Amino acid sequence: MKINIYKGSDLEGVRVAAQASAYVLQRLCDAVTPGMSTLDLDRLAAEFIKETGGKSAFLNYHGYPAQICCSVNDVVVHGIGRADKVINPGDIVSLDVGVSVGGFTGDNARSVVAGGVSTPLKDKLLEATRRSLEAGIAAAVPGNRVCDIGAAVEKVVKEAGFSVVRDMVGHGCGRKMHEDPQVPNYRLPGFSPELKPGMILAIEPMVNVGTWRITIDKEDGWTVRTADGSLSAHFEHQVLITQKEPEVLTCPNHQIA
Ligand code: CO
Repeated sequence: MKINIYKGSDLEGVRVAAQASAYVLQRLCDAVTPGMSTLDLDRLAAEFIKETGGKSAFLNYHGYPAQICCSVNDVVVHGIGRADKVINPGDIVSLDVGVSVGGFTGDNARSVVAGGVSTPLKDKLLEATRRSLEAGIAAAVPGNRVCDIGAAVEKVVKEAGFSVVRDMVGHGCGRKMHEDPQVPNYRLPGFSPELKPGMILAIEPMVNVGTWRITIDKEDGWTVRTADGSLSAHFEHQVLITQKEPEVLTCPNHQIA
């Protein structure tokens, strides 16, 4: 395992890519409207990514065929935009955006409810997932280990009565989208690396209302669904470990346009 430590111009490069991905994610979340298809969102993403001067980090990654991931309701992650997948009022839309600029990559994700017609359960799911990410970020400090991040995420999710997806993890993210270490969203026993200033981690809880188990679509080989058809949410930030508080590189600062 080789964990990169970022500083100087490399760190500045990751900051730029992270801000680009945050900008695109914010624009997309604002654009989600019932009646649009998930392919419409993917096309919009292409425009917003172009504005940043970067490229989609996902397109062609291991053959992934779209600009972003757009995952609706029981789709956990890796939903591919489709013309025949129309967004309905009250749908949970999970958008995951990775942008590469100047040799560095930003990665972030957020779930929103379309059309402002949520339910108490959906509000609770999104809130718990967001708070679990915040708890994971708060645990991302020197002196802790990577496994402490997952433990913090899992605690919030369990207390809310939901379950954390176990088969998919967060990751180091900087020069490449997926770098060491893996960042599980639950307490994994065994060796876990110490957190050090300069590490950059994408922390990304995927939270299901029902079982943590998932299935992968046999036709497209990508779409990840909850095994029981229950709703799922996904929030992701890319964070820099510092001497003190972690710095959220994908906070929307609107510095791009
Ligand atoms: Co990620």
